Amino acid sequence: MKGVVLAGGLGTRLRPLTSITNKHLLPVYDQPMIFYPLQKLAEAGISDVMLVTGGNSAGDFLRLLGDGSDFGLNTLNYAYQTKEGGIAEAIGLTKAFVGGDKFVVILGDNILEDSLEQYVETFRKQENGARILLKEVSNPRDYGVAEIEGDRIISIVEKPECPVSNYAVIGVYMYDDYAFEVIDALKPSARGELEVTDINNAYLSAGKLMADIIGGWWADSGSSIDGLLQAGIRARELRVGRKI
Ligand code: G1P
Repeated sequence: MKGVVLAGGLGTRLRPLTSITNKHLLPVYDQPMIFYPLQKLAEAGISDVMLVTGGNSAGDFLRLLGDGSDFGLNTLNYAYQTKEGGIAEAIGLTKAFVGGDKFVVILGDNILEDSLEQYVETFRKQENGARILLKEVSNPRDYGVAEIEGDRIISIVEKPECPVSNYAVIGVYMYDDYAFEVIDALKPSARGELEVTDINNAYLSAGKLMADIIGGWWADSGSSIDGLLQAGIRARELRVGRKI
């Protein structure tokens, strides 16, 4: 199983903090944001990882993360996204690295309390298809939202005006190599990007999309200044083991 961490984008929702740097390099409590998803992949037993980034700060990731050995990784590879083409486009850049394996994608601003190990193990045993993770939230309009019946997903809508549930699709996606076929056929959305929700919906139409609901907290630290602050508070609670 390979790992992919996405750390591109302009970080417009965090300006002016991101005016001169990539949001994934900003601090979340006592570590740069990008450390958290790399630690989650390593903890789940994924040791070959590709980080996709772009923009002017790309070289800073190399200086900060090096060969990934500080995280216990076997290899840390890098890809450069030249356009703001969206999450699905960034995933498409990892095709040669993934090389036909199954893989886990994590968005570089997603911070989780729980280990990913049990979900990755379930996906290892899943014959093929995709597996996504859901979390009940109070602000579903800010996310991809899944309609579920038991453990079956009925639909996923990206940032809906009228959400049909409180289940947000968090930024952890497990795919087989069918994902690359889907990405090759995707058309840009109204905001001009290739959407990860469209990859998930392609798996859904093929009857091959599974989901787990996570229990622990989840922070989308790049979504807003308050999201960044909340993520820092949560990370501190986890580190020092008590509430502020
Ligand atoms: C992206 C996805 C969205 C998902 C979210 C999780 O949104 O498009 O479906 O719920 O990540 O972090 P973004 O935060 O890039 O707007």
